[in-house]
Amino acid sequence: MLKGKKIVLGITGSIAAYKSCLIIRQLIKKGAEVQVVITPAGKEFITPITLSALTSKPVISEFFSQRDGTWHSHVDLGLWADAMLIAPATASTIGKMANGIADNMLITIYLSMKAPVFVAPAMDLDMYAHPSTQQNLKTLQSYGNHIIEPGTGFLASKLEGKGRMEEPENIVAALERFFAQQESLKGKKVLITAGPTYEKIDPVRFIGNYSSGKMGFALAEECAARGAEVALVCGPVSATMQAKHPNIQRIDVESAREMYEECLRLYPSMDSAILCAAVADFTPCDVASQKIKRTGDEMILHLKPNPDIAASLGQLKKESQTLVGFALETNDEETNAQSKLKKKNFDFIVLNSLRDAGAGFQTETNKITIITADDKTEFPLKSKPEVAVDIINQMEAVMR
Ligand code: PMT
Repeated sequence: MLKGKKIVLGITGSIAAYKSCLIIRQLIKKGAEVQVVITPAGKEFITPITLSALTSKPVISEFFSQRDGTWHSHVDLGLWADAMLIAPATASTIGKMANGIADNMLITIYLSMKAPVFVAPAMDLDMYAHPSTQQNLKTLQSYGNHIIEPGTGFLASKLEGKGRMEEPENIVAALERFFAQQESLKGKKVLITAGPTYEKIDPVRFIGNYSSGKMGFALAEECAARGAEVALVCGPVSATMQAKHPNIQRIDVESAREMYEECLRLYPSMDSAILCAAVADFTPCDVASQKIKRTGDEMILHLKPNPDIAASLGQLKKESQTLVGFALETNDEETNAQSKLKKKNFDFIVLNSLRDAGAGFQTETNKITIITADDKTEFPLKSKPEVAVDIINQMEAVMR
């Protein structure tokens, strides 16, 4: 997984700096190319000569090369790297990263970095537990950086490690896991539906629902991050919902009928589909061409059923394809989800209930149960991107 990967290794002023030699050795043994960037304090703990001997590359430390005054381009390194690993990362460097204090070469490279960044904190327990350090680590996480949790070697979701830098083999394993996951859907095509549908009543009114698209967009980002090409068919979500990964092709639709047509067109060329959209089951029989006026009388709206996208794809599904559905329930959750699983020919269904606080529409979090024909797994309340990881892990497990 690390073969041919280009890693910028940032080393800062901690006693754990000597362990970076072991990190370099393992990265190189696994086929990676390593460029070391060291802070002035880092050089107090380990010499650039040792590091350049191990990497077969000059170590970068100053803005200018001391010998000929050549300017080191932090922008070039930001584009060159497949990952940046800062190990050990002191409280001071973490603070500078969180606040953009670019007073050394390492931080300028960090600020220009286009690749994912991994941080292995190294400090004593009190420094690690200090609210300032914890806040800075949370800030780095909010920037999308990955904290390698001391004492576990896993990428931290909650920060509860013990401060001492994680062992080199576990740091390298965390990188390997990350790259493995990134490529696990390479060459696969995934169709995802997201958001609500709007069913027009007249030029100014519609029947809709509360779906924000957050769950569906999180699934799209997760699939794309694992290397899949994603077709994201989404209903009218707010302008703030943006697909970030370049592998996501977004197709905007408004009504259930439009979503149905796009899905039917796309599904034959897909390896998998995840139907996360909240699709209106009914649509007005007639759409008024002008705004309906108030008359003082009751108004009766006649509705007809919309096509069931999931059931149609379930019928079209080939042996090689996977189909994943959602069930949004308010009562008799499991029974209803089980029945949708069978009726729509899903490989598994993701149940979320509006009875669970923090689950379902609009929220940043969700609480799901994954139900297959003969099994069910309940998950705790998590952020929607984390829920997406659980769902895509399950999808990979059942993909043919
Ligand atoms: O968008 P968010 O605010 O983040 O909220 C996420 C969510 C709550 C919308 C999402 O987690 C969710 O539960 N989506 C499915 C909502 C829904 O319509 O569930 P359902 O039980 O009514 O439908 C069952 C399945 O059939 C779903 O996969 C649905 O996409 C699909 N369906 C339903 C009707 C229809 N006409 N066509 C369909 O494909």
